[in-house]
Amino acid sequence: MILRDAVVAAALAAAVAFPSAAQDAAQGAALAEARGCGSCHGAKGIAEQPPMPSLAGQPAEFVTLQMILFRERLRDAPPMPDLAQGLEDGQIEDLAAHFAALPPGPPPDRGEADAGRAGEGAALSQRMNCGVCHLPTYAGRAQIPRVAGQREEYLVHALTQYREGTRRGSDTNMNAVMYGVTDAQIAALAHYLAQR
Ligand code: HEC
Ligand code: HEC
Repeated sequence: MILRDAVVAAALAAAVAFPSAAQDAAQGAALAEARGCGSCHGAKGIAEQPPMPSLAGQPAEFVTLQMILFRERLRDAPPMPDLAQGLEDGQIEDLAAHFAALPPGPPPDRGEADAGRAGEGAALSQRMNCGVCHLPTYAGRAQIPRVAGQREEYLVHALTQYREGTRRGSDTNMNAVMYGVTDAQIAALAHYLAQR
């Protein structure tokens, strides 16, 4: 794991080395169109079906880092590692600027809130300090993703992967947060966040 951490650190340093002034949302939009990102993530970055996550309103740094993790095959989440091959750092930054600029919103097929489960999720989130990192609005910041209004089944998928250790980010914060959390608790957290 020490080697892996070193590779992640290097990828991170590379991401940070490119000034944000180089980002161009318009070029990112054209590249997203050419690469068909919208066919899965939604024409406006709001995913209309599982298992795709919405990308609209994600912090640019988060998208940039995840795309680098995919390209370097450090995050195993098919089909993204294959799709990220050949993208240059500047292109990734343009894509990130594009998705960050799209207004976030819930997916069209989001169901009604279940007050009981949402309340349970809210209490868990409070106790587990989710909003301390993801912000009280859950809009995310820098390398911490927006989770408000994300597709519910994607949130369950991501939280379960962190708990199982099958997904590790640039740090192990989420693995520590999710240690020992039950499936029922994950379902409540995902329901609450999806309804934000
Ligand atoms: C064939 C469908 C498909 C296409 C095309 C596609 N993606 Fe994805 N993408 C996915 C899926 C599925 C996931 C979630 C994988 C997982 O976590 O298991 C994902 C995850 C991501 C994530 C991580 C989001 C998060 O919240 O963690 C980013 C960023 C992303 N894709 C960007 C892109 C970009 C940019 C393009 C175009 C260059 C693109 N994707 C094209 C299916 C696709
Ligand atoms: C110490 C800071 C911290 C805390 C506390 C925290 N998170 Fe995170 N979270 C992060 C970071 C950093 C990432 C990105 C990690 C990566 O690169 O995979 C993340 C990623 C996620 C993702 C993946 C989203 C996506 O689009 O791929 C979800 C879902 C999530 N967190 C939910 C939660 C929930 C629910 C809680 C509370 C139970 C929580 N987080 C607490 C820092 C935190």
